[in-house]
Amino acid sequence: MAELIVTTPGRTRLRRLRRTRTLRNLVAETTLGAEHLVMPHFVLPERRANQPISSMPGIAQQGLENVVKQIGKDLELGLRAVLLFGHPEHGGKTPDGAAAAAANGAVQKACERLKRDFGDDLVVMTDVCLCAYTDHGHCGILEHGQVLNDASLAPLVNMAVSHARAGADVVAPSDMMDGRVAAIRDGLDDAGFEDTLLLSYAVKFASAYYGPFREAADSTPASGDRQSYQMDYRNPREAVREALLDVEEGADWLMVKPALPYLDVIRAVREASLLPLAAYNVSGEYSAVKAAAANGWLDEARIVRENLLGIRRAGADQIITYHARDTLRGGWL
Ligand code: PBG
Ligand code: ZN
Repeated sequence: MAELIVTTPGRTRLRRLRRTRTLRNLVAETTLGAEHLVMPHFVLPERRANQPISSMPGIAQQGLENVVKQIGKDLELGLRAVLLFGHPEHGGKTPDGAAAAAANGAVQKACERLKRDFGDDLVVMTDVCLCAYTDHGHCGILEHGQVLNDASLAPLVNMAVSHARAGADVVAPSDMMDGRVAAIRDGLDDAGFEDTLLLSYAVKFASAYYGPFREAADSTPASGDRQSYQMDYRNPREAVREALLDVEEGADWLMVKPALPYLDVIRAVREASLLPLAAYNVSGEYSAVKAAAANGWLDEARIVRENLLGIRRAGADQIITYHARDTLRGGWL
């Protein structure tokens, strides 16, 4: 190393490649555009609701009419993919989260309407998980303080099939039960939805970065935490096992979540599998940037570009991010 520096002074000058902006763009190794971004939405059952989420400035829980209007405007920015989260009617939470599969649920109605209004110009993805619909707030069925694995599969399958029936292009299970990818794939195929894509939250860590989201989705567990089903963030090898198992079970598409503290895991999954790979830049990652920017401590536009490009560079094909709209509207790329 020392020898190289001594024998080539001034011959290899990497700064030549950085001299002008046009040159830098020409040799850039990583790209980021509207086509890589997915915008999350929280859909409420009340059609005209619009409730800002205090910990996520710029993001609101909205009823169908406002969600559709917003997504229409976002389409003009080139934002062509959305991920929908839902809420049951007031008082609709039960031990088994049955409302998650209601044909007239907020997410199901939103899927129907979005596909009717925007057709294939928009990719509609739905989060499949019970935690917003169970009265205990866990992602599966709870018995004697334990989240049951196999008993949780049927309600998840029902939820996924109800989304597919409503027109969702992609269902995305986020519960982290073992075997749910195979169960949901079978359920979709049996119901005649062979073409509905299955995007697995394959590698989802038990993370403190979900804090603001739980306010938005009203899905904080009433007791305990999610460490018996979400992954331990000390385990990158286990993360690859989770990903490969979901490939075997029939996933079309993988996700790693959260994104920024897990760039190594994104890289490892990228190298271990040939499937498209999404990364979820989660609520806490968003809120942290927003809070620092609001204080004038960080330059939001430049921080967001750097974060998103870092996630792309690590190997993510798509980024699910609450920054998507601001990024495109502000021309931050
Ligand atoms: C529900 C779910 C969570 C997120 C997506 N789906 C929260 C959790 O597991 O507690 C997090 C999204 C975010 O923080 O932006 N299973
Ligand atoms: Zn959940």
